[in-house]
Amino acid sequence: MTIISPTMSHPQAENQGSEPAPTSPPMRVAIIGAGRGGMALLDMLHQISRIQIVGITDQNPSAPGLTRAQELHVPVYDRVTDLITHQGLNLVIDVTGDPAMGSVLREEVPAGADVVNGQTARLLWLLVQHESTLQTQLLHAEKLAGIGSFAAGIAHDMNNPLQLILGLAENLTDEMDLEAVHLQAHDIIEAVKRTTAICRDLTSYSRRASLRQDCLIGVSGKLDEALKIARYAVALQDIEIRKLYQPDVVVKGNPDELLHVFVNLITNAVQAMDHHGTLTLEANAMADATQIRVSDTGSGIPPELLGRIFEPFFTTKPPGKGTGLGLYNIKNVIHHMNGTIGVDSQIGRGSTFTLTFPGERNTQS
Ligand SMILES: Nc1ncnc2c1ncn2[C@@H]1O[C@H](COP(=O)(O)OP(=O)(O)O)[C@@H](O)[C@H]1O
Ligand SMILES: [Mg+2]
Repeated sequence: MTIISPTMSHPQAENQGSEPAPTSPPMRVAIIGAGRGGMALLDMLHQISRIQIVGITDQNPSAPGLTRAQELHVPVYDRVTDLITHQGLNLVIDVTGDPAMGSVLREEVPAGADVVNGQTARLLWLLVQHESTLQTQLLHAEKLAGIGSFAAGIAHDMNNPLQLILGLAENLTDEMDLEAVHLQAHDIIEAVKRTTAICRDLTSYSRRASLRQDCLIGVSGKLDEALKIARYAVALQDIEIRKLYQPDVVVKGNPDELLHVFVNLITNAVQAMDHHGTLTLEANAMADATQIRVSDTGSGIPPELLGRIFEPFFTTKPPGKGTGLGLYNIKNVIHHMNGTIGVDSQIGRGSTFTLTFPGERNTQS
């Protein structure tokens, strides 16, 4: 059984998703202004299945929202008039802040369509910004909550080199042979390096996702990094790990956020397998899309729950094991990257989560 996350325009998703099934035709919206405000609105409204963005326009042909519209396959119009006379339009959102646009809209927007502009459009823009800040905070809070469960894994990984250091240091106290002293000192240095590597991985994972611009991310490297982090949350000893990576697969996005996505998917997969099974990580670049798959041979997800797993706070795990925010945050990150997430699951056989992104040229910047 397959389902794509609820906010995507996929027929099954609408039947099973958390949003109520649409009873009326989608609201048809036009956006005027493709600067930061227009682009943020586009990003947000595009995720809502009951809204159809019929087009966007801006007098500046290099406005960032126009490029984003092309990526999202939203029509870009050269002339405001052509856009606002679009058949069956329900709403025109003008984020240009240009008073002259007000009179154009008053004259040309067909009867039956509403206009949002001026302070109301500004309010909308502030709400969109607020929502985006909340999503970032939620992502970070959920990551920190997850790190709480790393304690046992970290203690185990730190204890081994520390015990080694203790033994070597005890030997050194009465070692007279200078060559042996040097060798043991060398072993101590290596053991300390191992513990600092653990600390470095974890501190870089726990920091807030950097606000740097999206960049091309090497997928196989990120999946391997995620495996290293996930080891602290879940025991991987008895799990067979298969890596089916095509070389040089890249996606565009925020590397910290993508790492968090992979850690969450791997953690879920291993938790579903209850200590034994096969975890398969795949990265494939196709002609027009890139796909990443995380599959497990675990419990599977009952069909009646499939439509709920992307809801915030939906969890079947006991308190302390799950927050129910993992897949909700993953879905937001993936949509922000213009990608989609789908799941295919069979009870008792396992689940596959598939991330699909628009194709990127396979050269990392
Ligand atoms: N790989 C998987 N196999 C089986 N069930 C899963 C898998 N991934 C997610 N789920 C189900 O989806 C629910 C929500 O997952 P998630 O949002 O990550 O929250 P959490 O892991 O904190 O419960 C889980 O509680 C579980 O029931
Ligand atoms: Mg989870």
